[in-house]
Amino acid sequence: MDGYRKLLLANKAWVQECLQIRPDYFERLKTDQKPEYLWIGCADSRVPADRIIGTDPGELFVQRNIANLVIHTDFNMLSVLQYAVEILKVKHVIVCGHYNCGGVKAAMSHQNFGLINKWLRHIKDIYRFYKHELLTIQDETARLNRLVEINIFEQLRNISETTIVQRMWKKEQQPYLHGWVYDLESGYLKQLYLFTPESEIEDIYRYDFDALKE
Ligand code: CO
Repeated sequence: MDGYRKLLLANKAWVQECLQIRPDYFERLKTDQKPEYLWIGCADSRVPADRIIGTDPGELFVQRNIANLVIHTDFNMLSVLQYAVEILKVKHVIVCGHYNCGGVKAAMSHQNFGLINKWLRHIKDIYRFYKHELLTIQDETARLNRLVEINIFEQLRNISETTIVQRMWKKEQQPYLHGWVYDLESGYLKQLYLFTPESEIEDIYRYDFDALKE
């Protein structure tokens, strides 16, 4: 059987299962979504957002890309962030990276991957900023995993530096920004960082909303 057909069969089985638990399972979801969380994760197939945190349809707004990056010129990401934060009013934004991330690993190498070099360049920049710390780590896997953690921290910074989040922090004291890392070998998540609406923003990235009468 063609491999993809099993996906469609699995969908049928899933619908039946959902309806057995709750006959109105889909009825209640058809009009609106009110997720409390925005998940920004790696596109890696081994880190399925819904599965690892047990959320149901309607609970999680999701954006995934290679190495869970938040780039300030990426209109796809920024549109997702703006919609989630301003319209859906999510209370929590979770950036979830994972150890042994292929994207981060590729960025640490000298290999030429073509177009994707431009995406991975952002991680190379982070490597350069933290080179002194990273080069003290002898073990290659440990160094990669430390860069995975630092990368998560830097993406939280990028989110906090957007006008989208700064405005909401000021107006509604949300969202909270969480940095988590997923361990592929154990299946467990680890909380690494938390940015709250009271967190300091590096001065040069701070916007003056009063002047704009917002
Ligand atoms: Co990855």
